[in-house]
Amino acid sequence: MTEKKLKVCVVFGGQSSEHEVSAVSAASVIDNLDKEKYKIIKLGITKKGRWFIYTGKTQKIADGSWQRDKDNLKQVVGSPSPVHKGLLVLEEGGWRSLKADVFFPVLHGIYGEDGTIQGLFEMACVKYVGCGVLASAMGMNKLYAKMAFESAGLPQAKWVRADRHELEHIEGAIDRIESKLGYPCFVKPANAGSSVGISRALNRESLAEALAVAALHDRQLVIEEAVVGREVECSVLGNRQVSAAAVGEVVSASGFYDYKEKYQTNTAKLCIPANLPEDTQALVRQRAILAFKAIDGQGLSRVDFFVRSSDNEVLINEINTMPGFTSISMYAKLWGAVGVSYSDLLDQLIELAMQREK
Ligand SMILES: Nc1ncnc2c1ncn2[C@@H]1O[C@H](COP(=O)(O)OP(=O)(O)O)[C@@H](O)[C@H]1O
Ligand SMILES: [Mg+2]
Repeated sequence: MTEKKLKVCVVFGGQSSEHEVSAVSAASVIDNLDKEKYKIIKLGITKKGRWFIYTGKTQKIADGSWQRDKDNLKQVVGSPSPVHKGLLVLEEGGWRSLKADVFFPVLHGIYGEDGTIQGLFEMACVKYVGCGVLASAMGMNKLYAKMAFESAGLPQAKWVRADRHELEHIEGAIDRIESKLGYPCFVKPANAGSSVGISRALNRESLAEALAVAALHDRQLVIEEAVVGREVECSVLGNRQVSAAAVGEVVSASGFYDYKEKYQTNTAKLCIPANLPEDTQALVRQRAILAFKAIDGQGLSRVDFFVRSSDNEVLINEINTMPGFTSISMYAKLWGAVGVSYSDLLDQLIELAMQREK
């Protein structure tokens, strides 16, 4: 008798500005999951937040045309009731629950990577890949992530917080930031991704503008001293036992890895492994694991750092609990560099989801 295949529900799209990036990552996940081991359910979430089971070609997920492939779409809703196991599908005769053994949310940004969909999975008592509610929420919020890193003793750039309402008294807010950080500094919405809403300020005038831009995206703002150095990233994997992969470097053309360089110009280069002394790489790996534990991470994360030019100090920048996840994304390539293939990685993530402790 053949062993029963594990039913894996791959969730893609979502309501965030990173909808398209998620679809490309998810298509890669679906293509590389071992079909001998898993039965795959493809769950697409539109930008408006409608949920569909999609039975058409995976290629159409990557190029976005799945939403027009009406014959292969069946509308479903997410249910928080443990009785429904997460998903309800409307059929003749009423609602039926559609059971998956494990959910794999390949979602970035708001409602996907921020603990909200993880909360739904928790309520429904279903297993899922990746970080839980708290870690996802902390990883997504740069302010609270910084607080967690600080209490774990991880070095980071000097930073201050600000709130949107303070901008009503902009001169006072700027005085406070200037006295603590000076220029240049980076202004970020606390909930950001893909560099959206982030700018570099060089003087009072550009700081005022940067604060106004960031405040369009979030009520909470973070301002940091600008670090002169190299940007490096490290992938981590595990629950209680966490391992770190190789360290990679992102070399951006402008020194600011912004939205254009991430998705449009293709001018940023990935260098794997990073061209850094072995002891610096070891420190990056060690701090990546510490950062993951500081937010109570589970499953996976990509942890991003600066290596400061003046003294080679390794400063944490941020943690991404669902990093770009195609087979050629930094996350997977850093594992590839230490001999873990992309399909192995998927197997391990599913195994970690099945074993997760409460
Ligand atoms: N404190 C800083 N010093 C120097 N460069 C920074 C700093 N903060 C951000 N950057 C630049 O801005 C980019 C985006 O910032 P980041 O905090 O990583 O936001 P996102 O979550 O959008 O990736 C970084 O990859 C880096 O190039
Ligand atoms: Mg980043």
